[in-house]
Amino acid sequence: MPRTPHVLVFDSGLGGLTVLAEVMRLRPDAYCMYVADDAGFPYGRLGEAALVARVAALMVWLIGQFAPDAIVIACNTASTLVLPHLRAAYPQIPFVGTVPAIKPAAAQSRSKMISVLATPGTVARDYTRELVRTYAAHCAVTLVGSDRLAAIAEASMKGEKPADADILAEIGGCFVEDGAARTDCIVLACTHYPLLLAELERLAPWRVTWIDPAEAIARRVDHVLDEDLGMVEGEPTPRGAHRALFTSGIAPAPALKDALAKRGIGKIVLEPILLERPDLR
Ligand code: DGL
Repeated sequence: MPRTPHVLVFDSGLGGLTVLAEVMRLRPDAYCMYVADDAGFPYGRLGEAALVARVAALMVWLIGQFAPDAIVIACNTASTLVLPHLRAAYPQIPFVGTVPAIKPAAAQSRSKMISVLATPGTVARDYTRELVRTYAAHCAVTLVGSDRLAAIAEASMKGEKPADADILAEIGGCFVEDGAARTDCIVLACTHYPLLLAELERLAPWRVTWIDPAEAIARRVDHVLDEDLGMVEGEPTPRGAHRALFTSGIAPAPALKDALAKRGIGKIVLEPILLERPDLR
């Protein structure tokens, strides 16, 4: 009997659920622990040193507690910064990251005008600028740092209907026209944004391809489990058996609890892990 892989999926909040869904679809046998560091949300506004220290401190606790086989950092804002630190600290654990899907967007775009919609942190990272130089030098790339879209996505998961004007104010800068040419691909470089995909499609001033890397990340997880860890697919883990942990220690409201249950998460763990660390509050 193959052993059930334990996969930890980590984000600052609810955005990583878009990645979790694809991991569950591709590896139904995996037993998933979703961790929302909602006490630290939003990561987009944290300074780089503070973010590295925070995620490193959380990982010590999470790895000690849950001994996952693989960890997905389902957050662009964290991945573009903390992956090298985590890989160096835990060489025995495979980490799968989420970085802006600039390469596929540049390859797919016909107009060669692409936009990258991300948190202000991700837009400012050297890592992101390097991806643009390496893979999209032949494109006109517009980087758009959104202050509020991740929080709007959080609110909509909690049952609030977002105002169209609020979403439009965040995405407007992605739509660029240059003579007859215009943006045709927009990279969703924050895992929260695909939670709003229906609204984004409806409100877009013209049709574009929205690039959500969740499936590609899940394929990478599957590859790591299969090839690196030799964990071939076994019996499916029952839906409802998966868990979600919230670092705020605040219980999710009923609408969110329902949304989590629909995504296969039946158990909520409330763990204010870092409350004793005032430096990380
Ligand atoms: N979901 C996160 C990302 O992919 C960030 C949201 C935030 O905490 O600012 O970048």
